[in-house]
Amino acid sequence: MNISTQIEVLPGIQAEEIDRSRLPLSQAYTLPPSAYTSDEVYEREIDRIMRRSWLPLARVDQLPKPGDYLSFDVFDQPLLVVHGQDGQIRTLSRVCLHRAAPIVDGGGNRKLFTCPYHAWSYDTTGQLIRAPMMEEAAGFTEKNCRLPQIKTEIWNGFIMINLDKDAQPFAPQVAGFERYFENIDLSQMVVARTMEFDSDWNWKVLVENFMEAYHHIATHSGTLEPIFHAQDSQVPDNDGPWSILHMPTAAGEEVSPDLFANVIFPHFLIAFHGETLTWYQVFPRSSGKLLLKIHICLPRKAMEEATFEETAQAACELTQTIHMEDIEANDLVWKGLQAPFTTQGRLAPLEKSIWQLNQWWLDKMLVEDGSAEARS
Ligand code: FES
Ligand SMILES: [Fe+2]
Repeated sequence: MNISTQIEVLPGIQAEEIDRSRLPLSQAYTLPPSAYTSDEVYEREIDRIMRRSWLPLARVDQLPKPGDYLSFDVFDQPLLVVHGQDGQIRTLSRVCLHRAAPIVDGGGNRKLFTCPYHAWSYDTTGQLIRAPMMEEAAGFTEKNCRLPQIKTEIWNGFIMINLDKDAQPFAPQVAGFERYFENIDLSQMVVARTMEFDSDWNWKVLVENFMEAYHHIATHSGTLEPIFHAQDSQVPDNDGPWSILHMPTAAGEEVSPDLFANVIFPHFLIAFHGETLTWYQVFPRSSGKLLLKIHICLPRKAMEEATFEETAQAACELTQTIHMEDIEANDLVWKGLQAPFTTQGRLAPLEKSIWQLNQWWLDKMLVEDGSAEARS
């Protein structure tokens, strides 16, 4: 790719800066600060990445019964994910077909969704069932009205969505990732606890912090580093939009299983530790704000054990302790990224996963709009 012709496509970012991020890992630099702080870059991310990537919306175990639903706002699109009376899980635009009021908020169980504005009612497939006093509207019939359906794929119990109606299927893109974890059955996991955090950082600050173990030596020196030495962490080569950080258990700590912190780009964050799956669900809200939901997931069979609540609580507390340490680190990074004298930093060889993300990010952000590579 001829970088010099692409200079103007990333606002506030110079060609030399891109070149430095593109170098092989042993010579590479971070993305430039504007990649995190610029509103224009964020707008482009929404267009080139967020509205074209597969994003995790919920788990099927959060919608076990027909009629169960949850609402989300994903990049200005109000969504409803619903377990239909026909057994199928669908993601629908939850914007009313009349005058655009969202028809529902939150979660629960319903057979019908009735818009709070003029009481148009939709069934669990998004079909309009009843529109009061519309008899004299010429040519209008309810049966021709259906809420737009969003591309949805169930992957290992995750309800994945893509706002691009022409997106390529998700599973083949992460086949290499799945092969790495053949012995872990993610589909049998259930959400046991959820914690929510509003944070004032760019979404990539959170993602990068999640995907490298180098910071264990300082940020987590008393918690993770004694068990998962930064120095021992490994990142295999990838062949798709994903990165795996393998943190082997330190010698003498064999009671603890290895820890894996995995990212499916752009921001599907899942950590595996023994029988616990920790899912960081990220909702970027602006260039400098995000909502984070941390879901602690355990195997369904563990629910029958008397110790389930205790196990869930312990996993929750441990994750919270680690996350509080990460919040401090991310606050520091976010402060520094906004300073006028801040420049690109040199990546550490242990930060291969960040380098992998950066290459993917640059591919997506620099590609000509409308080209085949823009799709995922
Ligand atoms: S906006 Fe929904 S019924 Fe009027
Ligand atoms: Fe951390």
